[in-house]
Amino acid sequence: MGIGGSDMYRQQILDHYKNPRNYGEIEDPTFSHVGENPMCGDTIQMDVVLDDDEETIEHVAFQGDGCAISQASASMLSEKLQGVAIDDLQEMDRDDIIDMLGVDISPMRVKCAVLAEKVAQDGADIYFGEKDIDMTSTEEDD
Ligand code: FES
Repeated sequence: MGIGGSDMYRQQILDHYKNPRNYGEIEDPTFSHVGENPMCGDTIQMDVVLDDDEETIEHVAFQGDGCAISQASASMLSEKLQGVAIDDLQEMDRDDIIDMLGVDISPMRVKCAVLAEKVAQDGADIYFGEKDIDMTSTEEDD
């Protein structure tokens, strides 16, 4: 058996997987970026709109194909990031994502869980000129 409360979290993950929030494309995003989990080839695109000061996230949309964990993580993250400072996004790590999902994640599935977060972070880094890559890969993640 899992840890206490995990059934509720499992249901929440399934709900986000079946009814993804903010799924689709944003017409004119501040930045848009794609990444893949090379273990399976699944991809996620994150579109982000920043406020006029380019400090706060106003809106996030995502699309892609993948397992329940990757899609639910992207869906939950798209909600969680609304109104969040871009600096706070950059400080997020895998533990924040695992906390958000609320379930035990096997090492293999951590790449699924963090895909959306990595894509959003790299998208911001590229936009602000701090990174120069075409596509994010969770492979670099240890
Ligand atoms: Fe592909 Fe999870 S199996 S992202």
